[in-house]
Formats: sequence, C-alpha cells, structure tokens
Amino acid sequence: MKTSNKILLSVGAVAVLAACGGMGSKGGNAGFPSADQAIASSWENIPAGWEKRLVQDDTQKVCSAARDKPSKADAERVEKMNLAMKVVYPASGKLVGDWKKGEAIAQSGYGMRVGDDAPNRANGGNCYACHQMTKAELSFGTLGPGLNQYGKLRGNSETIVKYTYDKIYNSQAFSACSNMPRFGHNAILNPEQIADLVGLLMDPASPVNQ
Ligand code: HEC
Repeated sequence: MKTSNKILLSVGAVAVLAACGGMGSKGGNAGFPSADQAIASSWENIPAGWEKRLVQDDTQKVCSAARDKPSKADAERVEKMNLAMKVVYPASGKLVGDWKKGEAIAQSGYGMRVGDDAPNRANGGNCYACHQMTKAELSFGTLGPGLNQYGKLRGNSETIVKYTYDKIYNSQAFSACSNMPRFGHNAILNPEQIADLVGLLMDPASPVNQ
C-alpha cells in the first residue's frame, strides 16, 4: 500500500473514532441502532423460549452497570434478590447424586447453542472450564477456585450439601456478580444433574476427594 493511502486510511479511522466519541458525548446515535437494538434485531430465528436470553434481568443489569464490581449495598441487594428466587430440588429429595454422572456433566460443555443442539442430548456444566476438580484432570481453567478435595475439606453436613446444591443452582445468591453461570436458575442443568454434581463434589468415593 502506498504511504499516501495509509495516511488517508488513518485519517479516516480517526474521523470514525471522533464521530463515535461525539455520538457518545451527545448521548444520541445519529440513526444507528443502540447496542441493545442491534443485538435484538440480529437474532431472527432463535428457538422458542430463548427470547429472554436477549434481555438482561435485574441481577445482570446491576452487575453490568457495576462492571461486576458492585458496591456493598448493590452486592447485598443482588444476593438477597437471588436468595429469594425459587430453587427446584430433585423429585427424589436426594441432593447427593451419582458422582460418575456428575463427572461426565462437569466435563461436558455441550449445549445452549443457537440452532445446533441435538434435541435429546443433555447440556453439560463445563465446570472444568473454570475449576480444577480432580487431580487426574490436567486441563482446567482457573477463573474459579480449585474444588479438588471439596468434600474432604468441608465435610458432608446437611448445611454444606444444601449450600453446594443451591450454589450450583444459583451462584448469585451467595456471591453477587459472580462469573459462575446460574445453572439451575437459567435451566442450563436440571435438578438431577445438579445433584449428580453435588455427588461429584461431596462423595468420599469421587475422584474429587482422593
Ligand atoms: C465461567 C466460570 C465458571 C464455571 C463454568 C463454573 N464456575 Fe463455579 N465458580 C466460579 C467462580 C468465579 C467462583 C467463585 C465466586 C463464586 O463463589 O461465585 C465459583 C465458585 C463455585 C463454588 C463455590 C466454592 C466455595 O468455596 O464455596 C462451587 C461449589 C462451584 N463454583 C461449583 C461449580 C460447578 C459444579 C460447576 C459446573 C456445573 C461450576 N462451578 C462452573 C466460576 C465458574
């Protein structure tokens, strides 16, 4: 590319940036859609029932405005709001399920994709994307705390079992603006799957506790 073209391009880029700055400072959008409108209009063929995924709920609004660093008062409000939300438990009443199934769910990142999901294949929890859970698994993310030895360290009192279930169900009830998805609240995982994950974390026979 010739130097003169390069200069012209850079001047163009600066002009565009300046225009954006001007738009922002005036608060108008000069005929362009807002980010919310652009997002809403770019999803024309979403599966039925997914519309609400495009609209922030009150928790997300508070957390977005605070860039996930809420004030003490906002954090308390978010946690209180989420604690008051419904938690559905497995019909069996058993909160500690099968750790082997739990391990498969923790390993799977399947699901929640637009249009592509096999209808009868269950969503995964993708827990390893953020947590170390077992010593054996070498590939894990570190956005969340390591959960290896979880049951061994915490014991398996009813309180801890219930906390663990409720935490996976709705992380925001205990830690406002957490990066952890609200698996039960947002119907990513069903109650039986969540109980199986509690099994993975709590069961003395689970690889988490070896
Ligand atoms: C996108 C990242 C992410 C994913 C995926 C994720 N978590 Fe978390 N998790 C976190 C973060 C960050 C924390 C710490 C903040 C908090 O407590 O919410 C956390 C905290 C936790 C805690 C509380 C630990 C404690 O010390 O009390 C548990 C239990 C937990 N996660 C289990 C899971 C399970 C089970 C899954 C899979 C179904 C999962 N997480 C998926 C990010 C994630």
